[in-house]
Amino acid sequence: MKLFDTHAHCDDMRIQNEFEGGTRGYIRHQLENGVVNIVNIGTNLDNSKVSIGLCEEFDEVYASCGIHPYDIRFYDDIDATLLSLEELLSHKKVVALGEIGLDYHYEDSDYKKQMDFFIKQMELAKRLDIPVIIHDRDAHGDCMDVIRRFPEVTGIFHSYSGSAEMARELIERGWYISFSGPITYKNAKKPKEACAICPLDRILIETDAPYLPPTPYRGQMNHPCYVIKTAEEIASIKGLTLEEIANITYENATKVYRIK
Ligand code: NI
Repeated sequence: MKLFDTHAHCDDMRIQNEFEGGTRGYIRHQLENGVVNIVNIGTNLDNSKVSIGLCEEFDEVYASCGIHPYDIRFYDDIDATLLSLEELLSHKKVVALGEIGLDYHYEDSDYKKQMDFFIKQMELAKRLDIPVIIHDRDAHGDCMDVIRRFPEVTGIFHSYSGSAEMARELIERGWYISFSGPITYKNAKKPKEACAICPLDRILIETDAPYLPPTPYRGQMNHPCYVIKTAEEIASIKGLTLEEIANITYENATKVYRIK
């Protein structure tokens, strides 16, 4: 059985501080506990560089680089920031531009600046022909508007929280839908409904570790090896075995990230 955690933040401060052996010990622990591959996700220029360092050190780890809507606060000059980002994206183990997108959860964020960063990073993805990883929190309508403006750009909707109807449109447009810990929560109607209509060849699994722990680990730190819990839930929704879902989502991950 092959498990691919398509989205984790192994360099997160919580892991560095709380896990014995820090980020490197943490990654080794995941690989010893059933995870075959991990994409370590960047959210700003600094941790995108750290992700590249990790993928150079571990054969099993790949990197994504991008500016997350929370982290736009670190940057005033979008063009200069994206020039540095473009350089990072040329690394051979950087498999996606992300995570990028919109987050309307916190009212004190600059939504216009979020949109500017999102659109400029979509333009960059189009020019470089690289898949993107979308972070969409409480911003489904505006995210979809941007997606529709860039039909050439596809990739992953990460930790999917939209409706089944929105998933259907994304699938028609060539996108992959990635499910995380919350799909295992009893009251998580929307991700379960979206998963039910999602064709098998477009489903991915992820943890978003150290965030979003699945049942029964709620309230604890999340780990890439817990991705098996999300795979189990999807297997039960789809009426397949855990092993089938693990192997299908593994194949899908290598396709979306263009890993040979
Ligand atoms: Ni994330």
